Amino acid sequence: MIKMLNLGCGKRYHKDWVNLDFVSNSADVRAHNLLQGIPFENNTFDVVYHSHVLEHFNQSDGKKFIEECYRVLKPGGIIRIAVPDLEQIVRQYLIKLEASLEGKQQSQNDYNWIMLELFDQTVRNTSGGEMAKYLFQDQIPNENYVIERVGQEAKDLRDQYFKSKQKGTTVTNFKPSPLRFLSLNYYLNKFKQSKNIENDSAALKIGNFRLGGEIHQWMYDRFSLNRLLTEVGFHNFGVKSAKESNISNWLSYELEVKNGQVFKPDSLFVEAKKN
Ligand SMILES: C[S@@+](CC[C@H](N)C(=O)[O-])C[C@H]1O[C@@H](n2cnc3c(N)ncnc32)[C@H](O)[C@@H]1O
Repeated sequence: MIKMLNLGCGKRYHKDWVNLDFVSNSADVRAHNLLQGIPFENNTFDVVYHSHVLEHFNQSDGKKFIEECYRVLKPGGIIRIAVPDLEQIVRQYLIKLEASLEGKQQSQNDYNWIMLELFDQTVRNTSGGEMAKYLFQDQIPNENYVIERVGQEAKDLRDQYFKSKQKGTTVTNFKPSPLRFLSLNYYLNKFKQSKNIENDSAALKIGNFRLGGEIHQWMYDRFSLNRLLTEVGFHNFGVKSAKESNISNWLSYELEVKNGQVFKPDSLFVEAKKN
């Protein structure tokens, strides 16, 4: 039987895989901090997969993480990675900038959103940042564009938010799921903050948050991700779609696509092989 590893799985895991994340809420997920390496022997897995995890590490930790993925893969094994696609975000930014300069109102709304994709995930000092505020407006002025960019997940998160609001849950104790925009560390930070709230200086709170794992610390495109994988020793780099993979029965695990809907359409999906 082929052995498959899903790192930083969040809520996207399948029982046929070994699934790891900071915190486990399921018997199918093992709790582990990936900054301490990957807790398996060399040459253990046929497939190593991570989606929207690499960008949460700084460049140096990101490289160590990819080296760890290489180490635990068997020769001939496949790595599959999904990250926010810097190239597509920047292309959208330029398109929306030019249209905004021509005075098109709808493009200005789209411009506001793409700026959030580009910067808010990196510069925010509080959980959810400006992106959550945008998503939780009563009326999103360019909802179709936002959903087209970031997929069903944003719609689900928004529905969940309004349902919890109807039930009288306040924004501060709203526990969102899925965990893309507000990561698992949201809970860890809330816990830390609840313990320290009286004594924490503003700087300490920001520091706690920024070290908590939610923010993006780097971004990748098909050039830089290929270069990183090649430096670590991978070969046969290829860009894929969410529905396309060299991993057997990929679609049956529903890690990126369910009922034909792509969870994170703004992603760059790539695969490569270990020699
Ligand atoms: C944006 S979420 C992506 C979740 C899932 N892979 C997906 O695509 O929906 C990032 C995930 O990586 C996990 N993560 C981030 N840093 C981690 C670390 N150092 N160790 C373990 N998990 C980590 C977070 O807890 C979170 O579940």
